Amino acid sequence: MDKLLIEGGVKLKGEVLIGGAKNAALPIMTASLLSSGENIISNIPHLKDIATMGALLKQLGVDFHIENGKVSLNTEKITSIEAPYSLVKTMRASVLVLGPLVARMGTAKVSLPGGCAIGARPINLHLMGLKKMGAEVDLREGYAVVRAKKLKGASIYFDIPTVTGTENLMMAAVLADGITILENAAMEPEVVDLANALISMGANIEGAGTSVIKLKGVNSLRPVNHSIIPDRIETGTFMIAAGITGGEIKIKGCNFSHLDSIVIKLKEAGLTIDKEDDGVIVKGPERLSSVDVKTMPYPGFATDMQAQFMALMSIADGTSLITESIFENRFMHVAELKRMGADIKVQGSLATVKGVASLIGAPVMATDLRASASLVLAGLAAKGTTIVERVYHLDRGYEKIEEKLTPLGAKIKRVK
Ligand code: EPU
Repeated sequence: MDKLLIEGGVKLKGEVLIGGAKNAALPIMTASLLSSGENIISNIPHLKDIATMGALLKQLGVDFHIENGKVSLNTEKITSIEAPYSLVKTMRASVLVLGPLVARMGTAKVSLPGGCAIGARPINLHLMGLKKMGAEVDLREGYAVVRAKKLKGASIYFDIPTVTGTENLMMAAVLADGITILENAAMEPEVVDLANALISMGANIEGAGTSVIKLKGVNSLRPVNHSIIPDRIETGTFMIAAGITGGEIKIKGCNFSHLDSIVIKLKEAGLTIDKEDDGVIVKGPERLSSVDVKTMPYPGFATDMQAQFMALMSIADGTSLITESIFENRFMHVAELKRMGADIKVQGSLATVKGVASLIGAPVMATDLRASASLVLAGLAAKGTTIVERVYHLDRGYEKIEEKLTPLGAKIKRVK
């Protein structure tokens, strides 16, 4: 298993180019199932999760190819309607085939994902919406079997805004009979990117990016040709890399407007963030200030940035209160940061982070994708050597992180 070896203490300096957003690419890949023909999606990040989604789509009969950040998906022949446990357990986003398969094939058999490192993460709201649209849902032997000859438009209210739930039901509704209204829908930029891809395929969608999305079903959709939006979480992670090392990084190819809450909090922490025509220049202060954050659905502070922000706060001046309100178990990085000298106490969903003068390198273990990123950031700032184990978590969502950090001056290398 690969490890990352980091010699900390270098102020990062230089330019970095942001890749396409994983969490936009995954649903747009499954949206290709709604058409019959050659779909092309570009600005695809080079990630393990993309390969897993490709393997799942291949298993459904899709002719899938990936080359230089571009995927082609020929969806003329769909030969299976099943997302097996072996794939769903390695990547929960596999459930994103549910809506498209029911819409196109009238049936889908998708393994229930089960809990994961960060929380229980049920899919009850995805299934509730499909039922409202007239589908029959059977739960048996760990699978959801969903059937509907033709889905019907419905009014659906989400008790909690769910990103992939909103995406699944959007993809179910675009080919349904009549009008579907999704209320308390997720407003994330990735939901908007999916809506834009679907609209370019011929779908009728209004309101994506607000909490009420209206979809009017159409008879058929044409294949997609779409370029994925930049990854806002990768962007935020590199902003923190500048902040935590007291360096200066120019971040290119990002979409600044997707990062409002993150930029506000980072500026409060003392970072200087200036937007230029071709990117954003982010500069870390001499000493960071502590800032409180609470994770919220977009446009609130992203849960996917919480672990990285905690690494930053662990060396800030003063005490920061960090509340995780989306997932019930997303503090797995705390024990690892403490091994590096951080002073953090957790009570339920609240972490109290007392900034220390500096972190000390140590062997640490990655537990999930964003927790791994926080350990890399902590390692970049720490005195001495940090060894991050279980890097496969990081590879699911960060494109060649060590290859992007090295030109910035980071002393980081991957070892087997
Ligand atoms: N929830 C339910 N029932 C449902 C669906 C969700 O109770 O049917 C709850 C969840 O348990 C959670 C909350 O609703 O407490 C929000 O979860 P959501 O459904 O929005 O999460 P998701 O769609 O499974 C996506 C991202 C995650 C990101 C979350 C929150 C993708 C592929 N994944 O997950 O990304 O953390 O939204 O923003 O889009 C990551 O990239 O590292 C990652 C985990």
